[in-house]
Amino acid sequence: MGRKFCVGGNWKMNGNKAEIAEIVKTLVAGPLDPNTEVVIGCPAVYISYVRGLLPATIGVAGQNSYKVAKGAFTGEVAPAMLKDVGADWVILGHSERRQIFGETDDLIGEKVAHALAEGLKVIACIGETLQERESNKTEEVVFRQMSVLSKYVKDWTNVVVAYEPVWAIGTGKTATPEQAQAVHSVLRKWLVDNVSQAVSDSLRIQYGGSVTAANAKELASQADIDGFLVGGASLKPEFVQIVNAKQ
Ligand code: 13P
Repeated sequence: MGRKFCVGGNWKMNGNKAEIAEIVKTLVAGPLDPNTEVVIGCPAVYISYVRGLLPATIGVAGQNSYKVAKGAFTGEVAPAMLKDVGADWVILGHSERRQIFGETDDLIGEKVAHALAEGLKVIACIGETLQERESNKTEEVVFRQMSVLSKYVKDWTNVVVAYEPVWAIGTGKTATPEQAQAVHSVLRKWLVDNVSQAVSDSLRIQYGGSVTAANAKELASQADIDGFLVGGASLKPEFVQIVNAKQ
């Protein structure tokens, strides 16, 4: 279907200049599969530093941005500011933003719309909690998240969706390839029914949650998994093997 494999590293609130220089060294040494798009989500204050160290073939993402261009919003960062210091992407709607900072589906939708309007590409995250999965609400939850997102996204060209089951994030409990594929596949069906066949065919859906070098290849072999959003392992040399999981 021609969906380019896309692997994001989400460094979350980790790293300092010295550590970042080390991680970048392993990325530069690679070698990285040229058929995979790579995006590094780093803390906003280091975007300009990381951009200066990474080759142009690797994208840089912020991990959050606000829904308007400027104003009295102490502590917030605008998409235009991320762009100004070298980012071309932003990760929005991560479960940590939803759960720890109380971000709602609609706020995330507004942030996505504004980031896209400002010319950033967006990795939009969705995913159910353990309680939701155990009460058989996985589809209901991810469909609701997608439905609100689709109110705000008119053109999906610059969007990647990251399906990250919350119970798999940072827990070492990766979804099995079958569990992940099952959700990716119903998301694609949802897109056919609610957006369009064309978007369903072209939208890249990443899997995120305890992806490692050991499980990446099997996950990558699933028909509807188009990449990964990687937390912990993106800070380690094994990230190179995860990027190359499609080889
Ligand atoms: P881990 O890979 O550490 O489980 O984190 C996943 C994640 O939250 C990526 O956004």
